[in-house]
Amino acid sequence: MKRLLQAVIATTAIMLPLEGAMAQDYPNRNITLIVPYAAGGPSDAIARLIGQSMSDTLKEQVIIENIAGAGGTMGASRLAKAEKDGYTLLIHHVALAAGASLYKNLAYDTLGDIEPLGLVNYGPMVITTRKDYPASDGKALFAKLKTDGNKTTAAHAGVGSNSHLCNLLLQQALGVNFTEAAYRGTGPAMTDVMGGKVDLLCDQSTTAVPQIQGGTIKAHAVTSEDRLDVIKDVPTVQEAGIKDFEFVIWHGLYAPKGVPQDVVKKLNQALQVALDDSNVKARFADVGTQVFGPSERTPEAHRERFEKEVKTWQDVIGKSGVAQAN
Ligand code: MLT
Repeated sequence: MKRLLQAVIATTAIMLPLEGAMAQDYPNRNITLIVPYAAGGPSDAIARLIGQSMSDTLKEQVIIENIAGAGGTMGASRLAKAEKDGYTLLIHHVALAAGASLYKNLAYDTLGDIEPLGLVNYGPMVITTRKDYPASDGKALFAKLKTDGNKTTAAHAGVGSNSHLCNLLLQQALGVNFTEAAYRGTGPAMTDVMGGKVDLLCDQSTTAVPQIQGGTIKAHAVTSEDRLDVIKDVPTVQEAGIKDFEFVIWHGLYAPKGVPQDVVKKLNQALQVALDDSNVKARFADVGTQVFGPSERTPEAHRERFEKEVKTWQDVIGKSGVAQAN
């Protein structure tokens, strides 16, 4: 027994300074930032913007890796299995919380395996269609969907993704079932809407706004309470006739649970610098999304929101009767 105790004390004595040294030295090589959707989509765009600034602060490259599939759960799964050393991170959004209830067989425990590092941005989605879809505005779109929504093809980025959740809310509100087309992200989905292959896409303003401004797709309604300044002529969903409809999405930065707290602190500081950067803020504002305020983007505030949101989606999905995916 005495020998066992001595062995435990010796191991702890070796581990503590090593962990401290590791955190002091951190980072000393490239950091991988997993984006759980295809390149060219909104999560990818946000990751590249903050990743550049974080590279400058941390003096090591933050390299984006797109691990897309299963509504963003493949990327989350890769993070959960990564070394707990701060060299593998994940950017994710509402889908990480909703996925906990939407998937039967997740390879990770959403709250148990994933460590929140800080909130990043929040913003609405925009309900868009291919340019030649026969509806001129939000009201006309919803009226048309009520009659032939079942024949309408609607793209999304996999079960649980924001675009999928937005479709679910819209279908519930209109009492129809779209013919859904799943993609590995809204980047490729948007390409097909622009090409006229799919009718409808509810996408984050981040990637929808540049296409709307460029005239390659048609915007019908924004899912926030208020209109967006950058596309001021587009009504809110409520103005277009669907009451009590609001959907604002947010991104956060994550590490595997068990990363040393000093590393969490360093990463949060680098994130805070990125979100205070006037260039980053301006680029976000240009596409109708906003950075969280300093007190909301601490790891503690992020954890609180994350836990709340897992619970909220548990209730929503439980009541909705939506079938779980594998
Ligand atoms: C993406 O980057 O493709 C999106 O965040 C997917 C989505 O949630 O709709």
